[in-house]
Amino acid sequence: MRTNTNGELRISNVNEEVILTGWVAKKRDLGGLVFIDLRDRYGITQLVVNPDNQYYDVAVSLKNEYCIKAKGKVVERSSKNKNIPTGDIEVEVSELVVLSEAELPPLLIQDKTDALEETRMRYRYLDLRRPQMQNNLVIRHKTCIAIRNYFDQLNFVEVETPMLGKSTPEGARDFLVPSRVHEGSFYALPQSPQLYKQLLMVAGMDRYFQIAKCFRDEDLRADRQLEFTQVDVEMSFVDEIDVQNVTEGLLKKVMKDILDIDVETPFVRMTWDDAMNNYGSDKPDTRFEMTLKNITEWAKQLEFQVFKDVIANGGVVKCIVVNNGASKYSRKEIDRLTLLAKKYHAKGLAWLKYEDTLTGSIAKFVNEEQQAQLVNELGLVKGDLVLIVSDRLNDANNALGALRNTIAHEMDLVDPDKFNFLWVVDWPLFEWSEEEQRYTAAHHPFTSPKDGHEDLMMDHPELTYAKAYDIVLNGYELGGGSIRIHNQEIQAKMFKVLGLSDEEVQNKFSYFVDALKYGTPPHGGLAIGLDRLVMLLTKNNNLREVIAFPKAASAKCLMSNAPTPVAEAQLNELKIKTIE
Ligand code: AMO
Repeated sequence: MRTNTNGELRISNVNEEVILTGWVAKKRDLGGLVFIDLRDRYGITQLVVNPDNQYYDVAVSLKNEYCIKAKGKVVERSSKNKNIPTGDIEVEVSELVVLSEAELPPLLIQDKTDALEETRMRYRYLDLRRPQMQNNLVIRHKTCIAIRNYFDQLNFVEVETPMLGKSTPEGARDFLVPSRVHEGSFYALPQSPQLYKQLLMVAGMDRYFQIAKCFRDEDLRADRQLEFTQVDVEMSFVDEIDVQNVTEGLLKKVMKDILDIDVETPFVRMTWDDAMNNYGSDKPDTRFEMTLKNITEWAKQLEFQVFKDVIANGGVVKCIVVNNGASKYSRKEIDRLTLLAKKYHAKGLAWLKYEDTLTGSIAKFVNEEQQAQLVNELGLVKGDLVLIVSDRLNDANNALGALRNTIAHEMDLVDPDKFNFLWVVDWPLFEWSEEEQRYTAAHHPFTSPKDGHEDLMMDHPELTYAKAYDIVLNGYELGGGSIRIHNQEIQAKMFKVLGLSDEEVQNKFSYFVDALKYGTPPHGGLAIGLDRLVMLLTKNNNLREVIAFPKAASAKCLMSNAPTPVAEAQLNELKIKTIE
């Protein structure tokens, strides 16, 4: 239908007869001449229609988003547009055909849109006509190509694993699919291909990867969708460093291919303990400092009962120092920060402003000597704001970590052009669940304990560390993985600590436990969130910007309205009754 796209024609094409197709992005009727900006995925080309042209009336009748076809001659423009690659030329139209008309679109088809998110989602096909959105999808595609090429060169094989399977334990709720043939039984959609990829190692595939769809019935967030995509990897006969090296190579290539940025490898490695203690997060954003300081020893001396009680109960007093924060944060603003700290289970937020005098919520408990000690210990300078949480170590870390992130953005301390990759290593193997009153797997139940920690598992789960690692980028958990347990006895111990009975193990994982009996190679891997990777590559902060047809925060597809009730007959066939 066409000879060229709308991003293609240059001065060298002058005098060529061309046929173009696309959408009317803009029409200007200058009394005599009609100018049309014709848009497709590749760009914009200006068409011009003369009044003596037999298609002049058609040109006048065009409206935005009409889909048209135009034939004509490429000519040099008298006034050039330096902002677009085709700006030196225009096409003098000889023939013009309307392929389809368009109603007035409910949103502006241009990069800068003030359309509500709801409108964008409802008319997603129009939202996706916006060049920025098309670019996001193209970058996503190119990222996948880079990933596939990388793994192919390293002898990895992409293997597809089933969507209809048995529940996999990644800790979220499953999506269930009823079986028509097996009345009352359900498949579960995979939360990840975890067990299948381990079975592929038992099968001797040695190096596996897959760009895999995963499904988790969780509450949605800006960086969480119900269905998302993982770059899933597994390797045999490897240790942690091998998996990390392969991952670094992959991310280096993606950064080069997509953004032409050279990233330094090896990436920084930080232990989980250091990440939590210094940054208050297991996914620290290291583009800025403002690290957490432990001032428990100093706080002990104050005649302040809250600190005394917390410390007596084994808690800590920790703080962050906000440079120039004293003038930026009013009392009212600090109240807002206090609410944020409380959201992270801190019981409160104490504060001090170091200006000509020391002021703040606990200033009256600090004498001159103690003030000098604090100034010295924290290296305070005039204008600093000190935000203090006294609590259990975990709660203090989490609350200060959240404040640190929020304040850094509010104070413009984050360089948006930096890409800080980081490994967080040496994770605890277990975490205590207050809700369930039992230990749960910090990563998943197939993660190997550190060498020498196998004997700690049963008696001191809280002291057992794992061969697990997360790859973090700019404060986001980009991916995570581990070396797996390949030994039946350790796997059995793991299930015991997690409180799984033999019967439950049999029910849930018998096929997997059986496989471990047949010469399982030592193996490990990781999975990177593809959506998150592309979100960060395109400098977005919501996964919806890089997924063609995402779910809204309400877990609905606002375009198709899924999920919707189904016909009674369909439910009957599945022998399913819904309860009102
Ligand atoms: P994990 O559960 O850490 O590990 O997931 C790996 C990565 O997948 C991404 N991710 C998500 N992205 C969008 N929406 C979600 N709901 C969502 N959940 C996870 C994150 C995360 O880092 N089987 C293990 C990997 C392994 O051990 O090899 C796993 O799934 O970027």
